[in-house]
Amino acid sequence: MQIHDTIAGLRAARGKAGPDKRMALVPTMGNLHDGHIALMTQARAHADQVMATIFVNRLQFRPGEDFETYPRTFAADCQRLEAAGVDHLFAPLEAEMYPQPQTYQIEPPPGQAGILDGEFRPGHFRGVATVVMKLFQIAQPDAALFGKKDYQQLMVIRNMAQEFNLPIEIIGGETVRAADGLALSSRNGYLSAAERAQAPNLYRILIKVAESVRAGFRDWAGLEHSAVLELQASGWIPDYVALRKKVDLQLPSAHDSGLVVLAAARLGSTRLIDNLEV
Ligand code: PAJ
Repeated sequence: MQIHDTIAGLRAARGKAGPDKRMALVPTMGNLHDGHIALMTQARAHADQVMATIFVNRLQFRPGEDFETYPRTFAADCQRLEAAGVDHLFAPLEAEMYPQPQTYQIEPPPGQAGILDGEFRPGHFRGVATVVMKLFQIAQPDAALFGKKDYQQLMVIRNMAQEFNLPIEIIGGETVRAADGLALSSRNGYLSAAERAQAPNLYRILIKVAESVRAGFRDWAGLEHSAVLELQASGWIPDYVALRKKVDLQLPSAHDSGLVVLAAARLGSTRLIDNLEV
């Protein structure tokens, strides 16, 4: 695997590979787990060359969030990427990505980025869209992969690529879970043993909501409310549990199908998100 920390180095390597080589990009913030690696493997099926990126993007963190403490495990990450057969890793320093303040940014529409996680993390999706747009311009991939674990992020990037006519195929990867159902996340490492034992309940509650919908319940608000109460009773502080339309994450009407249930909740000081397509 070739490791690049400069844009110029990466572009030179991309040039050498030749324009006829199809390249798939998998952006990450590192601290890689099996969910990230599954995206690398899926990328391989779509391209001749797989490029991973590791960059903890300050722009998408709010003041008081975990930018400083976000786990940075570069050596172990490199080993995992190498073992997964990744061809290129782009891992720039902040000064390479943001040599001066990033005054031009991508502002996704509030109807997509101001709801759900965007309501609780204002500006988050602006930071995500901006760094992803930069990574797209830098790496010029033919395809890019994002996990459904971050369902709203995938939607925002899909729509950004479509509205800006980016010649990049956006591919979604299924959520990879631990044996007990907990969606893998770099933030799971923040959980105490007791919180880790409680954490899979988030997914169990999503399953319950999905099963109720499949069984014909159409009172979306009622289902969301029961799920919130159940989380609170188990010691969680929920931000939301929301039944939405898969395509655009807008509110479904009573006869809509093609739904997804999304949730964000805190266990102690750790905020976890998960979702399940119905
Ligand atoms: P990060 O949280 O490192 O995630 C990188 C990619 O891995 C994202 O597309 C995310 O959806 C996916 N992913 C995370 N956990 C997963 C799981 N359990 N199963 C499947 N895929 C999973 O998301 C980001 O970084 C950043 O916002 C980024 C897109 C890199 C922009 O900074």
